[in-house]
Amino acid sequence: MKGKQILVVDDEPKMRRVLEILLQKMGHRVLGAGNGVEALALFQANSVDLVITDLRMPEMDGIELLAALRAQASEVPVMVITAHGTIETAVAAMKHGASDYLLRPFDIDVVELAVARVLNGAEVARQNAFLRQEINRGWDAFIGTSQPMQAVYELIQRVGPSKASVLITGETGTGKELAARAVHNASPRRDNLFVPINCAAIPADILESELFGYEKGAFTGAVKERIGKFELADGGTIFLDELTEMPMALQAKLLRVLQENTIERLGGNRVINLDLRVIAATNRDPLEGVRGGKLREDLYYRVNVFSIELPPLRKRKEDIAGLVEHFIAKHGHSTADTKLAPGVLKRLEEYAWPGNVRELENMVERALILSGGGLLKEAHFLLEPKPAEIMLKTSSSLAEGSKTTPPLNQAVEDLEARLIDEALTQAEGNKARAAALLDISERTLWYKLKKYRPDQNPS
Ligand SMILES: Nc1ncnc2c1ncn2[C@@H]1O[C@H](COP(=O)(O)OP(=O)(O)OP(=O)(O)O)[C@@H](O)[C@H]1O
Ligand SMILES: [Mg+2]
Repeated sequence: MKGKQILVVDDEPKMRRVLEILLQKMGHRVLGAGNGVEALALFQANSVDLVITDLRMPEMDGIELLAALRAQASEVPVMVITAHGTIETAVAAMKHGASDYLLRPFDIDVVELAVARVLNGAEVARQNAFLRQEINRGWDAFIGTSQPMQAVYELIQRVGPSKASVLITGETGTGKELAARAVHNASPRRDNLFVPINCAAIPADILESELFGYEKGAFTGAVKERIGKFELADGGTIFLDELTEMPMALQAKLLRVLQENTIERLGGNRVINLDLRVIAATNRDPLEGVRGGKLREDLYYRVNVFSIELPPLRKRKEDIAGLVEHFIAKHGHSTADTKLAPGVLKRLEEYAWPGNVRELENMVERALILSGGGLLKEAHFLLEPKPAEIMLKTSSSLAEGSKTTPPLNQAVEDLEARLIDEALTQAEGNKARAAALLDISERTLWYKLKKYRPDQNPS
């Protein structure tokens, strides 16, 4: 148990002192208060991991203090001090939510054990709540024996045991998060938490408090302290997904955390030491991110101590058959009865898979629903030609059809307009899907439609 901050409340300074010395010897920091009112003030001003309070005190007794803490929605563990012959009051305190009691006179070993148990319990409760969410997500093991994937497995096994930061790159759906978890599992940190945080999915203004946590009263609405993801990952691994989507100002703070291995919660001034391993991922080219001002160069070098690039599925077609089987089983069908119809595997291998393994899984799931199991036929899959294929078709007809070469700008615009038309036809007019096919944002599509097809009045 690392050093924690413990608030000791007792109206008798001598008694307080005994406990303070004991706790300090255990490696904890101690704040002392002479009564409940003073204790509440200290509690509000500091980040406190445990409160140990005497029960009989003037002004505000132990039970009242406990009630006041709970009224603030604080879950901080509270231990009460009691003397022989007054154990009933300690039991009453526990009915009011105290975690345990300490019997006076103190026995060093008993105090040490009880405090460790209560602090541990608080930690375990916090980790459990997190683990429950994590386990529900059900992570796969890696499937695929292709040469490029074997190279990936070897890198994971090599870098896993070290403390090196790792940068994982690869297109969407190639298994970057799976790889990050595999690195964590191959490390001595595997019994501590793997804490993923998706920088793109969390609004910029919330991201900082998610990472750093905050003290009570740090801002309006911070009614109780909150532990951040960095602290949660202490001793384990923090996975910063979509790193290039993290605001630049926050990237600077992240860099400082990585260099100094410490954080301060928002609105606090206590320095918290951490033992973190960082794995970051991006589906963009990180160097392009650096050039485009989306990724700090110093941070890039800091996280890119070791890099792993996940190959796109189209470059390891030999893995497709195994993956299909895996997903058939994963979605509750027997691979003995449910198979690809003849010729379908070849079609799957020819397809470009812009969404990679995730797209394959979704497509298999869809095919299973459509077929109800049994033979999975080509019609059960949604193998749309990709923009690249449309482009090839379109540009060759352009080249054949025209004797004179049009001005480049004009030619590009013609091609763009035709690609958009084809994508819209294919997407049956659904603009979100058409934009996805073209790998542009809906906003860009909307803008281009206004330019090329003003009559269609895009909305
Ligand atoms: N080789 C693989 N074997 C089995 N399942 C895989 C494999 N690669 C990816 N998956 C599965 O595909 C899904 C997508 O993987 P993951 O979330 O790791 O991709 P990603 O690269 O992080 O994607 P994104 O960039 O979109 O976040 C997950 O459900 C994962 O379990
Ligand atoms: Mg991911």
